[in-house]
Amino acid sequence: MRTQVGIIGAGPSGLLLSQLLHLQGIDSIVLERQTMKHVLSRIRAGVLEMGTVDLLHKAGVGKRMNKESRVHEGLDIVARDKRCRIDLEKLSGGKVVTIYGQTELTRDLVDARRASKGKLVYEAGDVDIHDIDSDSPRLSYLKDGKTFEIVCDFIIGCDGYHGVSRKQIPENILNEFERSYPFAWLGMLSETKPVSNELIYVSHERGFALCSQRSETLSRYYLQCQLDEKLEAWSDERFWQELGRRLPEETANRLETGPSLEKSITPLRSFVAEPMQYGRLMLAGDAAHIVPPTGAKGLNLAASDIHYCSNALIEYYRNNNKEGLNNYSTNCLQRVWKAERFSWWMTNLLHNFADDSPFEKRLREAELNYLIESEAAQRVLAENYTGLPY
Ligand code: APR
Ligand code: PHB
Repeated sequence: MRTQVGIIGAGPSGLLLSQLLHLQGIDSIVLERQTMKHVLSRIRAGVLEMGTVDLLHKAGVGKRMNKESRVHEGLDIVARDKRCRIDLEKLSGGKVVTIYGQTELTRDLVDARRASKGKLVYEAGDVDIHDIDSDSPRLSYLKDGKTFEIVCDFIIGCDGYHGVSRKQIPENILNEFERSYPFAWLGMLSETKPVSNELIYVSHERGFALCSQRSETLSRYYLQCQLDEKLEAWSDERFWQELGRRLPEETANRLETGPSLEKSITPLRSFVAEPMQYGRLMLAGDAAHIVPPTGAKGLNLAASDIHYCSNALIEYYRNNNKEGLNNYSTNCLQRVWKAERFSWWMTNLLHNFADDSPFEKRLREAELNYLIESEAAQRVLAENYTGLPY
């Protein structure tokens, strides 16, 4: 079998790339090791920058998002006894964020690929990559007991942090940068009315909390917890009680509680792999970088990688122009590292660090007070949260 672009991973990165290439008449195949049901069952953040929204419209999958998403023009920061609304629209010069679950946009992308008979292979086992330093790299995979091989012009690793593609870059060329945080997030999805119209980020002596949402009837809440926390130690009742203790009283009194639909514990990590390409292999999304979820940048960084990757491939096939391909890693990383910085900064700003010295504790408090009191500081947050330009 032969295709122009072989894509590993049917998450948001792989599906969005496949759809954008299809619309330009470029052939691709997507190999996904899980079932479609498994991929669509993942509960992931859905705070979309305007660049991501524009790219989804460009991919022709904006219809349901237009109908079901919610635009947020601001967010709340709560620190001890202070509350501050960050006017994202005013302070960013007119930019807003769109709330639309990653699960939903992944479903929209799957529907679009299937409608145009896109080649999506689910439950593709033992995906392997060959000859990426040649002009005809190959993919091989196992399906229904048979081994298949695909000759490609390019291979794009959209296979997430635990995928196979990053490992194809020679050890003497690959540089990995990582920071792990000494806490995790306990997340809960509930069929309850969101406690607020906008997101609330809370810094509290008991730990960070976040009030988010998926729709007018679906709420998403997070609590900072210990890394070794056990899910079975967190009944719904305990979760609601702890959340209420970390929220301002008037907000806690408004909290609508109910049974959880899903609960999970996720450690926080910053990670970047450089370079994001080698030979005919390019990495995109979580395969190349991870951000702590505090800044809601994971999906948006995946989208900006796909912006650069799809444009580079389209330019190559349409005009035989290799500039975008040659500069792909450099172009992505200049934006990746700024999003890593912002996500790291927001995580340090709002979480409790048990091993803080008294000096560091005061520094954190001063950083929060400066944000709450300074429009200049709020402008920096707004500019980064709504998304830096591509
Ligand atoms: N073979 C085939 N598929 C694989 C392999 C493999 N060896 N390894 C991983 N995959 C698949 C995974 O099953 C997953 O469906 O690759 C896909 C990677 O998808 P994501 O992890 O969602 O990564 P990405 O598409 O880059 O999207 C990034 O997802 O994790 C969130 O916070 C992150 O919102 C961000 C977004
Ligand atoms: C979410 O809705 O899951 C969410 C929102 C904002 C974040 C992280 C997660 O910063």
